[in-house]
Amino acid sequence: MTKEEILNILREAGDYVSGEFLAEKLGVSRAAVWKHIHTLIKEGYAVDVAQGKGYRLMSVPDKLYPAEIRHGLQTKLLGRKVIHLNVTGSTNTVARQVAERGVEEGTVVLAETQSHGKGRLGRKWVAKPGSLAMSVILKPAIDPMHASSITLMAAVSVTKALRGAGLEAAIKWPNDVLVNGKKICGILTEMSAETDIVNFIILGIGVNVNNDVPLETATTMKAELSREVDRVKFTQLLLEMLEEDYLTFKEEGFTPILWSWRRYSDTLGRLVEVTYQDEVVTGVAQDVDEDGSLLVKTADGSIRKIVSGDCKH
Ligand code: BTN
Repeated sequence: MTKEEILNILREAGDYVSGEFLAEKLGVSRAAVWKHIHTLIKEGYAVDVAQGKGYRLMSVPDKLYPAEIRHGLQTKLLGRKVIHLNVTGSTNTVARQVAERGVEEGTVVLAETQSHGKGRLGRKWVAKPGSLAMSVILKPAIDPMHASSITLMAAVSVTKALRGAGLEAAIKWPNDVLVNGKKICGILTEMSAETDIVNFIILGIGVNVNNDVPLETATTMKAELSREVDRVKFTQLLLEMLEEDYLTFKEEGFTPILWSWRRYSDTLGRLVEVTYQDEVVTGVAQDVDEDGSLLVKTADGSIRKIVSGDCKH
């Protein structure tokens, strides 16, 4: 893609590059080069245009553009194709539409803002500017019964990425990620499947990065670190962690992921109150099993297996 190539040449040069050089290198006309530069400027890149010297990239916008995400990304599968939207209803819905048309595994959908984002248990997840709203299309060769493994895996990967960014993140069952006891990330997976095969999984991840949230109940990376976070770098780190865990899952199965989940868990060993269908189960969270269910030891000493629900601790 010529526009991206021009951008990367300017980025790497760190100095003025002539239109003539760019045109010759990319096999296009100087007018075409100018058109691409014009588009870059419209997208928010600051490019200095100097007579006799050419073009110099002065700054890049705070946007999760495909060219930014792909630049320096250390993955083989995830994020090779990136779809970026300034505004959308839900990245999960967009991802489902493109997956139904047969897009390749690892395709990522990113939005700057999301008006009708979907959360767990029918809740909403509106993504404000400065946050990260991302959906990744995966096609694991697994039984649909084991799809929850991918959700738990994603909680592990997000926790690793947040820890890599310097935050003491931990997982609240089943897949909320907390920092200092407050929610910083939510995960929602959706699936298209037949009786015994998964067609695709949409792994939706929302992270509070630099956006504003009600700080009584939730938190952001910015609030915890007392500084703005580079969203592109964090998204790249997250994709790298997801890919690492996804490859482990494919090669070695769920067991090693489950051990990481236990290690990063904030729930195990705690007194919990889990709302499951119409019932509230209170007890000590003992463990999670191979299908991701929470095992709670209640006051009468019995163990309750909870497949899904809302957990408070
Ligand atoms: C939750 O904690 O309830 C899950 C929230 C998941 C939000 C993300 S944001 C990106 C993706 N698109 C959506 O519509 N939802 C997920």
